[in-house]
Amino acid sequence: MRCALRCAWADRMRVLVGADESAVARAAAALITERRPNVLGVATGSSPVLTYRELVRARSLPGNVQLCLLDEYVGLAPTDPHRYRAVIMAQLAAPLGLPDHHVHAPDVDADDLDLAAQRYEQLLCELGGVDVQLLGIGRNGHIGFNEPGTPIESRTHVGFLHDATRVDNARFFASLDHVPHKVVTQGLATIAGARSIILIATGAAKNEATTALVTRRQSPLVPASGLFDHPDLTVIGDHAALDGATYPRTLLEPV
Ligand code: GLP
Repeated sequence: MRCALRCAWADRMRVLVGADESAVARAAAALITERRPNVLGVATGSSPVLTYRELVRARSLPGNVQLCLLDEYVGLAPTDPHRYRAVIMAQLAAPLGLPDHHVHAPDVDADDLDLAAQRYEQLLCELGGVDVQLLGIGRNGHIGFNEPGTPIESRTHVGFLHDATRVDNARFFASLDHVPHKVVTQGLATIAGARSIILIATGAAKNEATTALVTRRQSPLVPASGLFDHPDLTVIGDHAALDGATYPRTLLEPV
């Protein structure tokens, strides 16, 4: 029984370990390129920044690619540069010359946010679903803004950030007081609906969360562990984030 489980997960999840953040980014960008996504799910935060830089440098995405955000803060002014939509425009869409209407996010300015969340689900469907979803991971194992305790079957919904996540994200804002409490995020089931998922994790602060994911300790307390059974999941990280647990892994060659 034990062997059957091990074989099953070794077949499904790939774990690639790179020497540093650059190696991780190159591997992630190469994998995204290989999948030729018409719809690319994009994460924010520091983890994907170098990957976006690689994709911009290589100009290897299809010219008509649609970018779909994982999540968005509620309560920031439409022109606030901290909005995740603005971040993706600046880091990826604008440098690639993609028009504004190729970038999609939940409408966090809507009066009815629950309806806006449903509409975002609908939009993802209308676009044909997400071909490749790029993810980071929070220290507490969150993906998108699905905090610990989020049901595995959740769809796009309104959520509230845990204090730890607000503290972690405060580095992008003037102070902790500026970090919104409320968000709209794709749910865990929405994220898991992507055809291919690439999760990037670097640094020792992510080790506990990635270990819980790659060693099959599936638990609602570690939201990322809900991805475990995904048929095409690749975790790419550095040694600090991925060393320590026993699981099959591939070391990336230095380039
Ligand atoms: C935020 C984002 C997540 C991201 C996480 C980790 O909470 N909503 O999508 O994965 O932060 O961010 P970082 O990569 O900066 O550690």
